[in-house]
Amino acid sequence: MKILVATEKPFAAAAIEMIRAVAEAEGHTLVLCENYKGTEELHAAVAGADALIVRSDLVTSSLLDAAPGLRIVVRAGAGYDNLDLEACSRHNVVAMNTPGQNSNAVAELAFSMMLYNARGGFSGKSGTELRGKTMGIHAFGNVGRYVAVIAKGFGMEVSAFDPFLKAGDIAENGVRPCTTERELYSSCQYISLHLPANDKTRKSVNFDLLSAMPEGAVLVNTARKEVIDEDGLLKMFELRKDFSYLSDVEPDCKQILEEKYRGRFIITAKKMGAQTEEANINAGVAAAKQIVDFFKTGNEKYRVNK
Ligand code: 3PG
Repeated sequence: MKILVATEKPFAAAAIEMIRAVAEAEGHTLVLCENYKGTEELHAAVAGADALIVRSDLVTSSLLDAAPGLRIVVRAGAGYDNLDLEACSRHNVVAMNTPGQNSNAVAELAFSMMLYNARGGFSGKSGTELRGKTMGIHAFGNVGRYVAVIAKGFGMEVSAFDPFLKAGDIAENGVRPCTTERELYSSCQYISLHLPANDKTRKSVNFDLLSAMPEGAVLVNTARKEVIDEDGLLKMFELRKDFSYLSDVEPDCKQILEEKYRGRFIITAKKMGAQTEEANINAGVAAAKQIVDFFKTGNEKYRVNK
């Protein structure tokens, strides 16, 4: 079978070598379409593929039209909002993700941004510490759990809200469970977002929630831009001079932030939460193994479409 890795944002070279080894050990061929410049190049590359590994790359109905032999697509990562799941099902393509594989990298990036911000962008002026501060984790999945462990290492007081977990599931990790989003936001100076982008969460982080945050509020977004109500975000910047926003996902309102609120936000150059060699190896190799196993045994354990 021909397994195509199509990534606009390439994996580390070491990850590609390991993905290749997994594929070739089972007699498959690995083909690369990394750093592609547009849909035309991508569509040409998928034409002969039986399996596809992507990252945040969009898997649309028209891409699937261009890949008549495709049987499986694996998003090497957690969030699969970039896959058109209905189109995958219509085209008889199995869609999977690799949950948990890149979570530590994302959690570490959240703290990189928090420390950089707390120390005034390493400018030399006096900053603040994380120790003793309140940390609120919005959604307690794989990334949220890594964030909790690191936050406790820094001596922070850690709380979490997750609508899909019982209080005991959170408390057993030594984290204070909150029963509502509002309780979390109103009790934590730092809020770190780890919720997926879907119809329920879209624009759910709004002014009502943000304005409940205490003095010195810091919102950390290594999740998705879609979960933020950007009108509410801008209102927060305008009305709360103490508020800052640290984001690994570029907001649509970036230009306004740059014009009006310089020094109060961080936006990474390119979404880079999962951009470590370790995360690339973990997620890429997991994707390759899932594909190999699917062809060999029909295993659909990580399937996300119906
Ligand atoms: C994920 O959902 O796994 C992360 O957002 C990482 O995305 P990336 O593979 O595009 O870096």
